[in-house]
Amino acid sequence: MERFSSISMAVVRRLPKYHRYLSELKKNDVKRVSSQELSRITGFTASQIRQDLNCFGGFGQQGYGYNVDDLHQQISKILGLDKIYKTVIVGAGNLGQAIVNYTFFEKSGFIPQAIFDVNPRLIGLKINDIKVHDVENLESFVKDNGIDIGIICTPKSQCQKVAEALAKGGVQAIWNFAPSDVSVHDDIIVENVHLSESLFTISYLLKEREEVSKAKKY
Ligand code: NAI
Repeated sequence: MERFSSISMAVVRRLPKYHRYLSELKKNDVKRVSSQELSRITGFTASQIRQDLNCFGGFGQQGYGYNVDDLHQQISKILGLDKIYKTVIVGAGNLGQAIVNYTFFEKSGFIPQAIFDVNPRLIGLKINDIKVHDVENLESFVKDNGIDIGIICTPKSQCQKVAEALAKGGVQAIWNFAPSDVSVHDDIIVENVHLSESLFTISYLLKEREEVSKAKKY
């Protein structure tokens, strides 16, 4: 994937976490937070947090910490959450429907314009008021409607074909849930999501805990 700045992906991947914790603090009406406090909540070290935020110009004040509202707003801006992105969801099955019904994405500026499927029983239906179209029309719809992001929720066998249609239509990014990496031109941002990685991490930690407690007994 082509990058346009020297900010490392490790920093980029921590930003949404900061954003989420700051949203919680904001909701709880917390006005000010120190980097130590942010460290306790996020699990990152205070110096890591300061270093990350310094990449974008700092925002904290010595002896005061961070103003929660300001920092939340700045990180929203850095993440581009003050913009609107048009999305399409491809695959109107369990996951596609769950994504369309989860309104948090829409509230965050990712606006679903259409859903696509091959199943004639789904085509023409509306899910959360968004129409399901025939996937045959995916490329032209993306082109005609200036779609920014394609969300792939099809079976693994179909994801490459779908990614190519999205790419030809001109999307800037693909959020791929199918359990197979897709290959498209380098200037398209691709994020592959695997919930199983998170679940298997739990599995590892459970196993580790069990082994340690067994070892302690002997
Ligand atoms: P599903 O079987 O309920 O839905 C798949 C939908 O895709 C169906 O409606 C089907 O008609 C449609 N479809 C098939 N070929 C298509 C094509 N060429 N163009 C457009 N639509 C097409 O499956 P489910 O449970 O919604 O899962 C969808 C995908 O997401 C699967 O690949 C699954 O492995 C993956 N998945 C990934 C997760 C993750 O953490 N990344 C979590 C859950 C599912």
